Formats: sequence, structure tokens, C-alpha cells
Amino acid sequence: MSTTSTIAKGLDGIVAAETEMSYIDGINGILEYVGIRIGDLSSNSTFEETVFLLWNRRLPNASELSAFVNELRAAYALPEGMVERIGQLPKDALPMHVLRTLVSELALSDPNPNDNNTKAAQAKAVRILGCAPALVACFDRHRRGLEFVAPDPQRSFASNFLYMLNGSDPTETMVRAFDICMILHADHGLNNSTFAARVIISTLSDVYSALTGAIGSLRGPLHGGANEGVMHMLNEIPSVDDVESYIMGKIQRKEKIMGFGHRIYKAKDPRATDLQSLARKLAEDTGNADLYEKSSRIEQIMERELAHRGIYPNVDFYSATTYFCIGLKLDLFTPMFALSRLGGWSGHIIEQLSDNRLFRPKAQYVGPHDVPYTPMDNR
Ligand code: SDX
Repeated sequence: MSTTSTIAKGLDGIVAAETEMSYIDGINGILEYVGIRIGDLSSNSTFEETVFLLWNRRLPNASELSAFVNELRAAYALPEGMVERIGQLPKDALPMHVLRTLVSELALSDPNPNDNNTKAAQAKAVRILGCAPALVACFDRHRRGLEFVAPDPQRSFASNFLYMLNGSDPTETMVRAFDICMILHADHGLNNSTFAARVIISTLSDVYSALTGAIGSLRGPLHGGANEGVMHMLNEIPSVDDVESYIMGKIQRKEKIMGFGHRIYKAKDPRATDLQSLARKLAEDTGNADLYEKSSRIEQIMERELAHRGIYPNVDFYSATTYFCIGLKLDLFTPMFALSRLGGWSGHIIEQLSDNRLFRPKAQYVGPHDVPYTPMDNR
């Protein structure tokens, strides 16, 4: 018979891995990538440099950065036949399902999909991160009945994505805003999707399987899918004057307010602070000031009602307004999170492989014992 042990539901408070990538102080609202404050990175870095930092645990010098950027740009192109394949997908498919399916499918055009040595795993990470934006953009254009716009290897990760999506030159402001979003979402400790990736690779499976699982995890509304939930909420509230009754109604019905609360942060998520400034500026510039005002009013009410319980805005709250102002369709918000997090997931996969032990926790059995087998006719 089993013995009873304490169960950490949701693995709350359990330390299950070591990482050198990101550090979170949830009480004081601090996030660092390899020791550098997130605000410093969002002000000064680029997504490409941030991924180098996460993967190599140090900032690159100029030639290292340029070599990494070139490697990533060389991976922008989709494998042969992929554009036609995307053209066969149902137009009403959801982009997160599409991204999950296609990242899995990339394994089929890799001659050695199961090679997990560090060099091979990193090459796969570059390959997937490099072409994932084209997967999303190509599908979005397909469903809008538009021709695929081939990636432009002269462009940065952020610029190339917006260019492929819209088929036109993005403005510098939009490129920088998108790049900042990519930096802010790149890594975040052992969040659910990163844990999923590490659990999968811990069987010595393969990078494609681990990333596919991570994308599946991210799309849930309690995780990365919350940014779409925030936008639905903002759309449901007719005007700033309606925010108070809408939010109070939700609180009274004990409904979760999307974009608030966090397992680790009991203070405002520092990424939300950065995204708030970005959202305010973009909202003013694009004639969406009302969207920002609604968001800011929601934050004030939540502060008044739930801050004493440690419930503050998380990364998904102001990213909704930011993505909307960049011109992204609602169901592309979570794929944007995924594009960035591919950097973090890949780093964690390589970190896990470098010191692997199979994840295999226990379940406390709570069912009956010694039950006789009942023949079919007697049930
Ligand atoms: C991300 O882990 C990461 O690092 C994730 C992430 C990353 O970068 O990878 O930061 C990205 O996933 C951000 C989180 C996005 N999700 C949401 O915005 C969905 C809304 N928030 C939640 O449902 C919730 O806060 C979670 C899922 C984020 C955290 O869940 P926990 O830690 O399991 O907490 P809980 O659901 O058990 O809540 C504890 C209490 C409950 O009240 P009681 O039952 O104790 O009375 O806090 C309340 C909850 O009802 N609560 C909320 C709330 N979040 C928690 N009440 C109202 N609105 C909320 N948003």
C-alpha cells in the first residue's frame, strides 16, 4: 500500500531544475536575463542579441553578434514545399494550432531530426527560430487570400516578420516596438511551457517534439493565451466609463481577470511596466488612446480591489494593446509570444540536455484497492 506524501498541487514552490538564463524575484518584481535587468535589455538590446545572451550566457562582441544574426537570417527561408503545404491548410484554422503543427512538421525535412548533441540542437534551434515567423506570416496571408511574401534576409527578425505579414515596409517605430516585445517575452524561468519542453527533452526525445509540446502548453488561457483573453475583455467593454461595472462584476462572480495574477510575481511584472509605456505611446500614435485608457482604468480598479492579495498585471496585460496597435490580428497575439519564447525554450532544451535526468515525479494514488474484476455480464 502507498504511503501518503505532501502534494504540491501545480508543483507550486517546487524547484525542479537549475538555469543560468533568467532570474525572477517575484516579491520585488525583478527579472534578469543572465544577470541583466529586463528594462536594460528592452532599452538597449535587440531580440537577436538577447537570444545570443540567453544561449551563451554572455553578451556577444560585434563580430559574434553579426555572425549570429547572419546565421539566423540564413534560416529565414521555409523548407521546400512548405508554402504549398500551408496553402492546403484550412483557412479557419487557429494560428497557434498551425504553428504547433508546422514546427512539428519541420522535423520531416531534417535529415537528422533526433540528433541531440549541443551543436546539432543549437543548429535546430536556429533553424526553427529563423523560419517560424515565415510559418505564421505565410499562414496569415493564405487565410486572407494573399500571396506569400518571401522572407528578406537583409532585415532583422522583427522587421522581417512585419514585412512578410503586411507585404510592405514596416515603420521604424513598429519594428522597434515589435523587437522590444520579442525581448520581453524571450525567457521566464520554469514557466509551464518551458517546463513542458524540458520534460519532453528529458526523455532524450528531440528538439522538434519538445518545442511542439511547449507551443501546445503556451496557448492555454492561463498561460500565453491570456493576451488574447485580455483583448476579448477590452473589446467587451464599450467605453472607459463601463470599466468599473464590468471589472467589479467579474470580481463579484469570482471570475479571473485575464492578464492579472502570477504564480511567481506578487508585485507588478516588470515586463508589464515596460509594455505599459510601449502601449501608451503606440496607442496615442495609432489613434487607439481609448484602448490604453480602458487598460489603465482596469489596472487602477484591480490595484484597489486585489493588489492586497498579490494580484498585479502580468506580461500578457499590456501586450494585448501593444500588439493591437502594431496592427496584429487578435489570434496572432499568442503566436507572437511563441515566436519570441522559441528562443527561451531552445536555450532550456540545450541546458536540460547538458545535465539531463528524466523528469518523473510521482502521483499519489487515491483510488480503491483489491477490487475484484467484474465480468461484463454482471456490470
Ligand atoms: C504567463 O509562469 C510564467 O512565468 C508565465 C509567464 C511567462 O512569461 O511564461 O509569465 C506568462 O503565463 C502569464 C500569466 C497569464 N495568465 C493570465 O493572465 C490568466 C489569469 N491569471 C490567472 O488565472 C492566475 O493568476 C495564474 C494562472 C497566472 C496563476 O495561477 P496560480 O498561481 O495557480 O493561482 P490561482 O489560480 O490558484 O489563484 C490564487 C488566488 C485564487 O483565489 P482563491 O481561490 O485563493 O480565493 O488568486 C485569485 C484566484 O481566484 N486570482 C485571481 C486572478 N489570478 C489569481 N483572481 C482574479 N483574477 C485573476 N487574474
